[in-house]
Amino acid sequence: MRKTIIVSNRLPVKISETEGDYSLQPSEGGLATGLGSIYREGNNIWIGWPGQEITDQKEQEKVTKKLRKMNLMPVYLTQDEINNFYEGFSNETLWPVFHYMAVYAHYEQTYWDAYYQVNKKFRDIIMKVAEPGDTIWIHDYQLLLLPGMIRAEMPEISIGFFQHIPFPSFELFRLIPWRAEILEGMLGADLMGFHTFDDTRHFLNAASRILPVTTTANVVSYNDRAIVVETFPMGIDYNKYAEMGSDPEVLQQIKNLKENFQNDRLVLSIDRLDYSKGILQRLQAFELLLQLHPEYIGKVVLYMIVVPSRDQVPQYKELRDEIDKQVGNINARFRTLAWHPIQYFYRSFPLETLSALYNFADICLVTPMRDGMNLVSKEYVASRNNNDGVLILSEMAGASKELIDAIIVNPNNIGAITRAIVDALNMPLPEQQRRMKQMRTVVAKFNINHWVKLFMTRLQEVNEMQQNML
Ligand code: UDP
Ligand code: G6P
Repeated sequence: MRKTIIVSNRLPVKISETEGDYSLQPSEGGLATGLGSIYREGNNIWIGWPGQEITDQKEQEKVTKKLRKMNLMPVYLTQDEINNFYEGFSNETLWPVFHYMAVYAHYEQTYWDAYYQVNKKFRDIIMKVAEPGDTIWIHDYQLLLLPGMIRAEMPEISIGFFQHIPFPSFELFRLIPWRAEILEGMLGADLMGFHTFDDTRHFLNAASRILPVTTTANVVSYNDRAIVVETFPMGIDYNKYAEMGSDPEVLQQIKNLKENFQNDRLVLSIDRLDYSKGILQRLQAFELLLQLHPEYIGKVVLYMIVVPSRDQVPQYKELRDEIDKQVGNINARFRTLAWHPIQYFYRSFPLETLSALYNFADICLVTPMRDGMNLVSKEYVASRNNNDGVLILSEMAGASKELIDAIIVNPNNIGAITRAIVDALNMPLPEQQRRMKQMRTVVAKFNINHWVKLFMTRLQEVNEMQQNML
């Protein structure tokens, strides 16, 4: 039976060790939560890193056995690979450049060498399970060389690639010393997908300016192969979030929130700790709100969840300290005996808690400097079964192309974010409902199943087209 092999750096679960035994937790981040529902079908398999270093061979076998029962296949990274491939090239080179923060980027040969080697390591593991007729679907910026490496081994196999983060304009991408090798690696795929038209256009532009390829519309001709490049905005499991609202555990948590915040309006903010998320700018906008509108003191609360992420990368460590400082300052400056302006949590929460917060919050404030898509904004919309609530969304998030009924803001414009919060707090219910209904229709229709089906059908069509060209 033909199977689909999903490959991403991070598996949808991460392992942690407690008292000699290993337990599994769901991974955070849009890629893992988005695709989490589909890999269990048939004899499909998901290959990736389980998020922790395990050196002992026996321990590795134990964990592998546990994961294999769940259609998951681990790729173990050594500490050196974690440092140079994951924290290094992936998150200190590609991540900042692709998110338009090139000043944060380090271009280190050792990072690149590790990136190349780890992509090869993934290739070798895939080779052990891939059979002719299978489909390989590779995800995200940590594995850009993998499509080309597999193509070299299995010229006939069907390969899809999807990038979950932005693809930057040529002027940014060209800064990377290994830019040609990266593009060549990506072009091993048959179909390549991005969240927005801009990302797609930027990729096509970079390919035609850096490589000796010809591009017509959305097809790149390279090494006698035709590679199709298209836009597939990723969706979420809409029904899951809509239905969670009637889960008894969620209802209990909503009740608790109501008791705790009887007279407060709640502004919700949920992100991984990341400089691309605009967390500091959001705090500044909230501070400005309390400064310019003292009438909201004691009445509006910013409920801010920051999920720990990549905490060994220096910029992430510094950002954490800076957030602590700013939250401390704002709370010290504006708090009253009975009220704290910011409820700040530096940890992750189970889905039930997130759902209760999405249900309860009057406003969801999503202001990334850059974001491939941003699933949090879609999860908020899907959770609003009463059609009320206001989404404030950065124009730099891929989701802003679809959720046009949000209040759209430029995240660099602190005053505009503050004004958007005021507008949201004062928005009449009929307008909230009109906007929310429109957004819910979009999120319901273009859901995760729709996205997977669209990508897979297109991949099949591309493969058929390639067959006919031979
Ligand atoms: N999330 C989570 N646990 C938390 C907070 C958030 O699993 O405590 C999830 C959230 O529900 C969303 C994902 O993490 O599905 C974040 O995805 P998004 O696309 O917004 O940003 P990314 O982290 O991928 O940059
Ligand atoms: C984003 C990326 C994913 C990544 C996730 C979490 O969603 O697109 O590839 O897995 O962030 O980041 P982490 O470094 O913890 O895997």
